[in-house]
Amino acid sequence: MSEPKYNKDSMKNILVVSLLVCFACSVVVSSAAVFLKPQRVANKDLDRNKNILEAAGLYDKQTGQNVDIAAEFEKFEIRVVDLQEKRVLSDLEASDLGIEARTYDQRKAAKDPAISKALETREDIASISRRARYSVLYLLRKDGDIKTIVLPVHGYGLWSTLYGFIALDGDMNTVSGITFYEHGETAGLGGEVDNPAWKAQWSGKTIYDDGGVALKVIKGAARAESAKFNYQVDGLSGATLTSRGVENLVSYWMGDDGFGPILDGFRG
Ligand SMILES: Cc1cc2nc3c(=O)[nH]c(=O)nc-3n(C[C@H](O)[C@H](O)[C@H](O)COP(=O)(O)O)c2cc1C
Repeated sequence: MSEPKYNKDSMKNILVVSLLVCFACSVVVSSAAVFLKPQRVANKDLDRNKNILEAAGLYDKQTGQNVDIAAEFEKFEIRVVDLQEKRVLSDLEASDLGIEARTYDQRKAAKDPAISKALETREDIASISRRARYSVLYLLRKDGDIKTIVLPVHGYGLWSTLYGFIALDGDMNTVSGITFYEHGETAGLGGEVDNPAWKAQWSGKTIYDDGGVALKVIKGAARAESAKFNYQVDGLSGATLTSRGVENLVSYWMGDDGFGPILDGFRG
């Protein structure tokens, strides 16, 4: 009697081999995700720090000039602020709250009802729903005086929340720069928030007039002969909704519920 012939193309073999291949691949992918997590976190931090430097005018992402990011970033004094009590916390107060300025995750904090505030519709001009009670800000000093202050900002555009930084000069009113390190707006439309030429025109613009936040992202181009030129940034063409989102996030974060009172304090 002859042995039953081994059929390597049997349905059972196909299923077993497919499952083994799937299992092996999933082990490789999940191990890579786990082992590379520290690298991913470090890269994210590096990118955020580059954006902070760029907003402050210390780094040009486009040319990727040879800047020692870590060394430049060390020049910043990082402070924790209480947006509810509208004041800068001492290092001791921050550490009593368990906040380490360098690693504090404001986005995570905004989801925790114990340390965030739900915004009412009328005050939620940046469409962020909740705002963390504590924030960090970055100070660059020269001869003891604040030369530049960099503030984290975020707000909704058309498709996504845009996360970035706005930097102001020591007068706490003149824009030094703006950058966005994360958003999901359409490339070529709302995504033009990353266009160096568009970002460049923010430098030198004025945030406040006597009535409060006055800076607007207007539809079309700001005209130099306009009395409001210093308070106007060109809108992104074909992306009015993203432009409005950027204007709104600036209004919110520079306003009374954001960093406005803190900036007043520094000015004083
Ligand atoms: C596929 C697609 C993607 C779009 N992406 C954006 C965007 O990222 N930001 C934005 O403001 N408008 C975007 N728009 C256009 C908006 O729907 C809207 O028409 C526009 O904001 C109006 O701006 P305008 O008055 O400058 O034309 C997009 C439109 C389409 C069809």
